[in-house]
Amino acid sequence: MAEKDTFILAIESSCDDTSAAICKNDTILSNIVAGQKVHAQYGGVVPELASRAHMKNILPVVDVAVKEAGITLDQIDAIACTKGPGLLGSLLVGVSFAKSLALALNKPLLDVNHMQAHILAHFIQEEGKEKPQFPFLSLTVSGGHTQLVWVKDYFEMDLLGSTLDDAAGEAFDKIAKLMGFPYPGGPLIDKYGKDGDPNRFRFSKPRVDDLNFSFSGLKTSVMNFLNAETQKNPNFVEENKSDLCASVQKTIVEILCDKLATAIERFEPQDIALAGGVSANSALRSAFSELGIQYKIRSHIPAFEFCTDNAAMIAITGKYMLERKMIADQSLSASARIAFRS
Ligand code: KG4
Ligand code: ZN
Repeated sequence: MAEKDTFILAIESSCDDTSAAICKNDTILSNIVAGQKVHAQYGGVVPELASRAHMKNILPVVDVAVKEAGITLDQIDAIACTKGPGLLGSLLVGVSFAKSLALALNKPLLDVNHMQAHILAHFIQEEGKEKPQFPFLSLTVSGGHTQLVWVKDYFEMDLLGSTLDDAAGEAFDKIAKLMGFPYPGGPLIDKYGKDGDPNRFRFSKPRVDDLNFSFSGLKTSVMNFLNAETQKNPNFVEENKSDLCASVQKTIVEILCDKLATAIERFEPQDIALAGGVSANSALRSAFSELGIQYKIRSHIPAFEFCTDNAAMIAITGKYMLERKMIADQSLSASARIAFRS
């Protein structure tokens, strides 16, 4: 007899994107993301405005996800939501919504770790994409985290190193802000840097022990450099935008890839995986593939739609949790900070 299909409805609300997705086994049937433009004018995410926008968006986003998937609510096997880490007020909206829906529909509830989900997005079934084989090394780079993770199994992950200060995405966004770009500036640095000379400006790289990272020194050195140059020429940034973006991007990518290379040499994985919002960065994607070629190992890069925050990655993680009966109860709450579950 054919095995029964598993349908998961997933909700992601950890930061400034409200997202809902439906998966059928390993395949994503719908993945709806409502961004929040309101933060651009403030140069960063304003937590209270984010919570309010989630409240407004969550019902229509879930409704569209269900309709687009072409299923009915009674076909769903479980409801997954992001428990953390993230902004508490934002998380609480998704968790409360998921709890209410699970109670109303009498379905199991699954509480997903956002950082694990970024990594497990690699297990979404996609045409022509090979899934990583355990154990593998993940470089997870987002707006809030920068982590090197040794992934032994779906829910057995060891944190090898992380940032001591700013995350990689935060570094992109803060440096972009110094150059006068709106939030989030990371994708704009990528865009403007495409025609620039990455070797035109040199910025200092940190010296940090082990497999940890640091980005706040880079931010300060770019700030000091821009202050000095704009005193001489107020149009300095505008006139050198492409070269500045390409040079900053090259420095961030080198900081990430230098540590990744150290971890590859130490742990000798056969597979490496890139995860998190910054994995959308074009320079990082090509440097990451290059490392795979250099070390003769398989490199896995997520599709663009699964790089930045999305509920598809929550759905696939929920599917593996349901299989393992890792079910939450109605006492579930959100956590702004959580360690890896193993
Ligand atoms: O994973 P994510 O969507 O949210 C968090 O969990 O934090 O990551 C968002 C981060 C932001 O800092 C954004 O600027 C960065 O990812 N990002 C990029 C690019 N696309 C998104 N940074 C550099 N280049 C990009 N193309
Ligand atoms: Zn994220």
